[in-house]
Amino acid sequence: MKHLLKMLDLSKEEIIDILNLADQLKYELKHSIPHPHLKGRSLGMIFQKASTRTRVSFETGMYQLGGHALFLSASDLQIGRGEPVQDTARVLSRYLDGIMIRTYKQEEVENLAEYGNIPVINGLTDFSHPCQVLADLMTIREFKGQFDDLKMCFIGDGNNMANSLIVGCLKAGMSVSAACPEGYRPDPQVLEFAKDYNCFELTDSPIKAAENADVLITDVWASMGQEGEAEKRKIAFKGYQINDEIMAAAKSDAMVQHCLPAHREEEITEKVFEAHANEIFEEAENRLHAQKAVMVKLMA
Ligand code: CP
Ligand code: NVA
Repeated sequence: MKHLLKMLDLSKEEIIDILNLADQLKYELKHSIPHPHLKGRSLGMIFQKASTRTRVSFETGMYQLGGHALFLSASDLQIGRGEPVQDTARVLSRYLDGIMIRTYKQEEVENLAEYGNIPVINGLTDFSHPCQVLADLMTIREFKGQFDDLKMCFIGDGNNMANSLIVGCLKAGMSVSAACPEGYRPDPQVLEFAKDYNCFELTDSPIKAAENADVLITDVWASMGQEGEAEKRKIAFKGYQINDEIMAAAKSDAMVQHCLPAHREEEITEKVFEAHANEIFEEAENRLHAQKAVMVKLMA
């Protein structure tokens, strides 16, 4: 593994390896066992979109590993004035040991990896959010103890989270159902990947998707960059909500995950969110441990 660009690039073995290391790093942190695997290393973090979790967990994670992280707002870099990503990649490769980037187009992340010669980590694009899904898988395994015989159900927008969850959960060995309204289905590349799995189901019925699910996951109806479509999306996604009715269709011990930020009473009710807050905030914490594992794998 040279980069973390999207879940499609990872094998099951690579996913499990990252999760095992993440568990170990979490244990070491909780027991104050030093783990300076990246002493003296620097990570550049380019942000073209807002972030709370990604920024803070990467920066703190790098510090805990003995390294150093630089926050680079795209609007302050020459990239924001049109310097090509290909040139930025070749320059930054000479100063840094790794780059994390949050941007719009997946292509930009792939270009950065192609033109630079240091590891690139995708911190979210419109197409994928692999760091989040590694944290979700870590949390699912923590709460459920395994992936085999589990069903993950995603309800909502077939966007970056849905794309990465479908691929990540199928690769990990889970069954997957996704309920997305027409016009908001997952990316064709993801559906092409999933079509070889007979344990994958795509429907426009949230209740049907939720039947016997062990894990229910949703995401905002309007992602970053889609703020102008918020009203239109509220209409399109009406009914695509994790609520009591959906929870009743799932297994009685089903867990809930949400990448956050959450919009209560839109994609999830306040009641369900608060009832599953311990799972959701463990998931947020696991961003730190999963990303530290990714950085160690790529940069040590
Ligand atoms: N879940 C997630 O990526 O959160 P941030 O946008 O706060 O980084
Ligand atoms: N789908 C959301 C995820 C945020 C972490 C977005 O892209 O804004």
